[in-house]
Amino acid sequence: MHEANRLKRLPPYLFTVIDQLKARERAKGVDVIDLGMGSPDQPCPKHVIDELCRASKVDGNQRYSRVDGELEKRLRKTIADWYKQRFDVTLDPDEEVLPLIGSKEGIAHLSLAFLNNDDIALVPNPAYPVHFNGVIMAGGILYNIPIVEENGFRPNFDALSPEVVKMAKLLFLSYPHNPTAAVADIKFFEDVIKWLKGKDIILGHDLAYSEIVYGDYKAPSILQVKGAKDIAIEFHTLSKSYNMAGWRIAFAVGNRNILKTLAKTKSYIDFGIYRGIQAAAIKALSGPQDCVKKTVETYKKRMDIFVKGLRDIGWNVPKPKATFYIWARIPLKYSALTSMEFATLMIQEAGVAAAPGTGFGEYGEGYVRFALVEDEKRLMMAVERIKKLLDMEV
Ligand SMILES: Cc1ncc(COP(=O)(O)O)c(C=O)c1O
Repeated sequence: MHEANRLKRLPPYLFTVIDQLKARERAKGVDVIDLGMGSPDQPCPKHVIDELCRASKVDGNQRYSRVDGELEKRLRKTIADWYKQRFDVTLDPDEEVLPLIGSKEGIAHLSLAFLNNDDIALVPNPAYPVHFNGVIMAGGILYNIPIVEENGFRPNFDALSPEVVKMAKLLFLSYPHNPTAAVADIKFFEDVIKWLKGKDIILGHDLAYSEIVYGDYKAPSILQVKGAKDIAIEFHTLSKSYNMAGWRIAFAVGNRNILKTLAKTKSYIDFGIYRGIQAAAIKALSGPQDCVKKTVETYKKRMDIFVKGLRDIGWNVPKPKATFYIWARIPLKYSALTSMEFATLMIQEAGVAAAPGTGFGEYGEGYVRFALVEDEKRLMMAVERIKKLLDMEV
């Protein structure tokens, strides 16, 4: 059997390799501390689970979801209301809101919906992998824009050649950013929209971590910028804010024509979201929000102790303003290793799993990403084990 060329073009999925290494260590009896995948470990709010249980008993909810269904309309209205209250952005629930089976699905399908073989998608690198893998799957031309620490992990559009800009049809951005945890302010978004003015480029902004923020930083929406709705859509997910990653529910909002084409693409491929989950999402977005606050407080505590722990043992990692990730330069002692080699060493010698930087693209080389999805006690245990690795004779 020969898989399609588009699959052969995809970079190796490094998380699968990390998973195999973890399994090997676990088989040897090692209690691996898993800070690799960004899969939230905290519980989903009880009132949301209760609503799923209730809604799953309602006759009719077992049927295919329909765009014109009463529940579906209510979900879109709830999303529009949440947006108004959170960002002061007004959305037409029926045409400027599109629920998704996870934002990963929506992001991949955005490329499929718009890219022809001679269209470029501009993707900052490193990035959440579906930003670039979706482009490859869709058969478009992937154009990486390197983003580096010195530049606050923001793309420099001025460095792009006029030919590339002319061929570009899509641009992906995402702040707060995975994997680097970089954040953006509204001024940066204004500059982006200004740069895009007069160009035939669609902007997809991935705002998965809008609520996972610390201190007085508040993540803006790109749709707060005047004119953004003419060219942009924004992706949100319930996976992180409400710890519902496995439930698969998210949404895109913004330009109605872009959303219409995205919805058309999806209509040939999927049947929407299970109604019980839609009912639960309504509860999550419109119910009490102290659960989100509690989730963020827990990440904050973890962040504080883990960053301090690593700094105390000589690994000077930055403390992010958002996300639950730490994007750490490989310590000098091990900096001759690739990020994959260093991540492998951490699993094998310390029993700590982190994501290798190159899992997020070639410009992730030199870094590993820790996801704080284990509790404080285990994070301190991870620090102890990493200390031994850093003290080890090599
Ligand atoms: C930046 C970013 N976008 C999207 C996703 C996927 O979210 P969802 O669960 O909605 O597919 C993730 C998950 O880690 C992410 O980090």
